[in-house]
Amino acid sequence: MLRTQTCGELTKKNIGKEVTLSGWVQSRRDHGGVIFIDLRDRYGLTQVVFDPSHKKEVHQKAEHIGREWVLHITGHARNRKPGMENPKMPTGEIEILVDALTILNIAETPPFEIEDRQQAAEEMRLAYRYLDLRRPLMQHYLKMRHEAMQAVRSYLSGQDFLEIETPLLMRYTPGGARNFLVPARRHPGKFYALPESPQLFKQLLMVAGCDRYFQLARCLRDEDLRADRQPEFTQVDMEMSFVDESDIYLLVEGLLKHIFKTVLKKNIKTPFAKLPYDEAMRRYGSDKPDVRFGLELTDVSSIVAHSDFGIFKSVLDKKGVIFCLNAKGCGKFSRTEIEQLEAVAKEYHLPGLAWAKVAKGLVLESSIAKYFKPDIQQQLCITCKAHEGDLLLFSADTFTRALTALGQVRLVLGKKLNLINEDEFAFCWVTDFPLFEWSEDEEKWIAMHHLFTMPKETDMIYLETEPGRVHARQYDIVMNGTELGGGSIRIHRKDVQERTLAVVGITYEEAAKKFDFLLNAFKYGAPPHGGIALGFDRLVALMNGLQDIRECIAFPKNKAAENPMDSSPGDVSEKQLQDLHIKIDIAKKNNKMVHL
Ligand code: AMO
Repeated sequence: MLRTQTCGELTKKNIGKEVTLSGWVQSRRDHGGVIFIDLRDRYGLTQVVFDPSHKKEVHQKAEHIGREWVLHITGHARNRKPGMENPKMPTGEIEILVDALTILNIAETPPFEIEDRQQAAEEMRLAYRYLDLRRPLMQHYLKMRHEAMQAVRSYLSGQDFLEIETPLLMRYTPGGARNFLVPARRHPGKFYALPESPQLFKQLLMVAGCDRYFQLARCLRDEDLRADRQPEFTQVDMEMSFVDESDIYLLVEGLLKHIFKTVLKKNIKTPFAKLPYDEAMRRYGSDKPDVRFGLELTDVSSIVAHSDFGIFKSVLDKKGVIFCLNAKGCGKFSRTEIEQLEAVAKEYHLPGLAWAKVAKGLVLESSIAKYFKPDIQQQLCITCKAHEGDLLLFSADTFTRALTALGQVRLVLGKKLNLINEDEFAFCWVTDFPLFEWSEDEEKWIAMHHLFTMPKETDMIYLETEPGRVHARQYDIVMNGTELGGGSIRIHRKDVQERTLAVVGITYEEAAKKFDFLLNAFKYGAPPHGGIALGFDRLVALMNGLQDIRECIAFPKNKAAENPMDSSPGDVSEKQLQDLHIKIDIAKKNNKMVHL
C-alpha cells in the first residue's frame, strides 16, 4: 500500500500510530542535522522528520532530497515540540518521525516555486500548468468546480431533466459567434463546424419530446478573448417544453440557490430582481448592471434642453440624450482624476465628459456653468439629488453610446470609491430586450440575440411597421455586473418565424436552406419551448471572487488563444494536409506571415 492516509488528515488522534504517506516535497529545512520536510498532496501538508539519532541510514537518504521529489514514507505520528505547532494547518499539531523512506521519483528544480503566496508570471503558469495546478489554491478551484458540476447534475436530475450530449461536429450554420472549422477528411473540401453552443440541437430535442434537457456543454467560439472569455468554455445548457419565462426564472433561481448552498454553504435570496433592458440602461448604463452599489444615472435631457450649451442642444436636436451621474462627494477630485474618468468615457466612444462641481447653494462650478441659468443649475442638482461637494458628470450622445460610456464611468467610480462589497453576490434578471437592433454598417435591422427568439405577443403588431418597438421574450441573468447567462422563449410557429425573418430581410425559404434541419423539424409538431445557458466558468470564477475565468479552468488558453503548454495551435505535416486536400497559402518570412 502506497499510503494509509493522505497528507491532510493526520491529527492528535493519530499520535503513536504507524502511518504511511506519499506525496511531493513542498519544502525541506535542515535544523542542526534534523531534516524537516513538508509533504504535500491534494489534501494538505504533513511535516515529516528525518532524525539521524533515530534512523541514520534513512536520514542519509533524505539529505539529497529536493523540492517536488515524490516520496513514500512510513513512520509514527508524534506531537510537535511545544511552540512548533501551526494552528493554521489541520495537521499543525503533529509530525511524523520517519522510519522508512522510498524515493518514488526525483524531480528537476521546478521553473517556479509551487506556492500560493508567490504566483509566477502568467505565461510560465500556463506553460507548466501541471505544476501551477499543484498549488493548494488551484486545487481548491478545481474541487469547487467539480462540486458545482455535481450540484448542477443532482439538482436538474431531481427536476426531471435528462442530461443529453449533442454533437461536437456539426454543419456550419450562420449567425452567432465565429465557428472553428474542422476539415472532413472523408469528404474532401467539406468542413464540420464546432458548435458555439448546442442551441439548434437542444431545440431539436424539444421537438423530439425530451421535454427537459440539460448538458454541461463544451462550447467553442473563435472570438477575441477577454478575462471572461475563452475559445472553449462550458455552459450549463438547458431547454424546456411548455414553459414561459416564469418557469425559467424559478428553475434557474432554484438551481443557483442549490449550487451556492451546497458548494459555498451560502443562502442567496430569491427571487432575483427583474430589470427591463431600458431601465437597466437608464439607471446603470449597462445591460449587465452591477447592482451592488448605487451611483445611478439620471436623464437630464429635458432640463438641459433649456440651457444655452450648444453641444447638449445639438445632441438633443439629433434625438440624442443627456444623462448625468452624480459622483457623491467627488467635488474634491483633481483635474487629473476627472481627466481619468473622461478617458474611460472616451474609450467607449464618447467625444468628451462634461462636468461640474456642486458648490454652496447648489451653484455649479465649471467652465460650462455659464451656459446654465441659476434655476437650471438648481433643477439639475435637485433632480440628481446633488449637494455641495458632489461632482456632476454629463454624457451627451445617442442613447446607447451616452449610457454605455457613463455606465463604464460609474463602474470605475464604484471601484475607486470602494462602494462595492466584494463578498456580496448580487443577481438580477434583465428582461424585455429589443428584438432587433439597427445596424449602422449594414443599414438594416438585425436580430439582437438570435433569429429564433419569440417576440412579445403584445408587440407583434409593430413587427412590420416599427421593428424597433418590438421586445423579445429574452432574458439575461446578471451576477455582480457580469452576464452569467442568457436565453429566450423560442419561436415555434412558422407564421411568426416568417414575419421576424422578413424584418431582417430573409425569406423563410432562404432561412430554410441555412437552418433546414431545424425548420424542417418544426413542421412536425414543435412544442412551445424556451431555455437558457449559464456560463459555468464565469459562475465558478464569480463564486471564488475571481475576475479571470482561466483561474478555474484546468488548461486554459492565453490571451492570444494559444496554449503555451502544448504549443497549440501547431503546425501539421505536409502529408496530413494532403490527406485533407488543404493547401496553405501563407508562410512565415522575417517573422511575419505573408501570402505565397
Ligand atoms: P450566450 O451566447 O449568451 O447564449 O451564452 C450563454 C453564456 O455563456 C457564457 N459565455 C462564455 N463564457 C466563456 N467564454 C466565452 N467565450 C463565452 N461566451 C459566452 C456567458 C453567457 O451568458 N445558446 C444560447 C443560450 C440560449 O439561448 O439558451 C447561448 O449560447 O456566461
